[in-house]
Amino acid sequence: MKRLICLILSLLLLTGCGKSETEQPEEEKLIVVGISQVGAESDWRVANSESMKSVFTEERDYRLLFEDARQIQENQIIAVRRFIQQRVDYIVLMPLSETGWDSVLQEAWDAGIPVILVDRMVDVEDDSLYAAHVGSDFYAQGRKAVTWMERKFRNSSEAVNIVHIQGTPGSTAQLGRTNALEDGLTAHENWNLLARLDGDFTQAKTYEVMSRYLGTLPPEQGIDVVYCENDNEAFGAIEALERYGYQCGTDVNVICFDATRNALKLCMEGKIALTVECNPLLGPLVEEIIQTMEAGQIPQKQHYIEEKQFTSRNLTQQIIDSREY
Ligand code: AHR
Repeated sequence: MKRLICLILSLLLLTGCGKSETEQPEEEKLIVVGISQVGAESDWRVANSESMKSVFTEERDYRLLFEDARQIQENQIIAVRRFIQQRVDYIVLMPLSETGWDSVLQEAWDAGIPVILVDRMVDVEDDSLYAAHVGSDFYAQGRKAVTWMERKFRNSSEAVNIVHIQGTPGSTAQLGRTNALEDGLTAHENWNLLARLDGDFTQAKTYEVMSRYLGTLPPEQGIDVVYCENDNEAFGAIEALERYGYQCGTDVNVICFDATRNALKLCMEGKIALTVECNPLLGPLVEEIIQTMEAGQIPQKQHYIEEKQFTSRNLTQQIIDSREY
């Protein structure tokens, strides 16, 4: 009997039941972060996910729950609800589009779980439903592209023919970049919008919609600018333009956003006229926000990041080689 009691006691000690309160198992010391990512629609998005995954590791005292919504907002809402049930410490949300978040963010708030918005914004009545936002000023990015167009065509009184390829409808990146072009169109009478197509931020869809559109044009139709709302759309547009005999860099000025390594290469070759930077490496900034809250402080609500723009004039091989994404 004595031997049996000893055995039970040693088993209890081994399984941790006899530990003092300060001696928590390693797992319990980790900060649990639930990330709901939009998908993997672009090179930018893949780099953004990698940035998060490289920061929120167990070696750095985090446990990461990562959910890819495959470009469906409903999947993101389900993921956030699951994180709430799992009682994570923080929720990081890259919202697909701006609207439709009030209820689920209220649920996170009621559960006492801070939500950090990354990349795009949400349009909610009560902005205390999220703790902070870190990302780009998409309208400012669009303004950079429009300013470039204004300089390029400043001496032209003839029509400037523009094809506009939009990103995912209702996303902050689409709204900001579209609004900037809209303002440019209003300000310049000779800027002529030939077509507005939905490329959904992907290369494949842009190739498809652009090929279909070019197929309807008379052979003499000139295109001066293709304003693509991200680099991957530019890759699809260039493929389609070349298929239909347009020369990118001579006939057509392709403009895009992100400035990923592949776009920089095409810019150096002259096929892309301008790519405006959109920095996806946001993991370290999100960690800073979390650490601020861990220290019991209130983080700054809005964090915009500094971004550049590239043409063949300011690009060097060194910039391309050192590009992380
Ligand atoms: O919201 C950021 C945008 O979304 C990037 O420009 C694009 O590449 C991504 O898919």
